[in-house]
Amino acid sequence: MADILKIGHRGAKGHVAENTLASFAKALEMGVDAIELDVHVCATGELVVFHDFTVDRTTNGTGEVHKLSLSELKELDVEGEHKIATLEEVLKPIDSQCYVNIEMKGRHTAKPLAALLKKYVDEEGYSYTDFIVSSFQYEELKIMSELNPDVHLGILTQASVAQAWEWAEEFSAKAIHPHFSLLTKDNMKRAHNAGLRVYTWTVNEPDDIARVKDYGVDGIISDYPERL
Ligand code: G3P
Ligand code: CA
Repeated sequence: MADILKIGHRGAKGHVAENTLASFAKALEMGVDAIELDVHVCATGELVVFHDFTVDRTTNGTGEVHKLSLSELKELDVEGEHKIATLEEVLKPIDSQCYVNIEMKGRHTAKPLAALLKKYVDEEGYSYTDFIVSSFQYEELKIMSELNPDVHLGILTQASVAQAWEWAEEFSAKAIHPHFSLLTKDNMKRAHNAGLRVYTWTVNEPDDIARVKDYGVDGIISDYPERL
């Protein structure tokens, strides 16, 4: 595996409708080491791969993801020609070809996700090292760490690396995922000294990519994986 992981943000968001099967296929075609995606629980309990809390921005529908059933979500078109996929539908074609960063975006995602990952590891030949589960949400991280301590956690932050360190310690996380504007050589070094990997987002401009590489990050999440 590459020294600095190339991580496709919502697949290859810069090229194809985000968080769709086509976007993940494009990212794989571009040779990513990992894909990043977002999950919510819908009204019928399935984990669906979707970024926003409502379907309004990227589909022809309206309403909150957690209040819509899977069949209602499946009726929608994403940016015209794509469909919303469940997490299982996304994982199937990836088939361990790359590492998967699952962001618990919605509320109440930790419990079904812990069960799903356990099933993939126990019954489908996956390993916990195939996944890293990240979140900005304290509650979901806490539930995941209690339900399944084998799941590798990443602490997302766009405000404070110090807070990410605290949560990383509390939840025995493997990584912190700071916004790239928060990174400094000093806090990078401190994270590495604490045994934490650093995956930074969403880095699209060549100058920023060069700078975070120079800092020694472990992975870069980008809408344009080919630039990494
Ligand atoms: O996981 C990094 C990044 O995806 C977090 O922000 O809003 O793109 O989900 P967002
Ligand atoms: Ca995300």
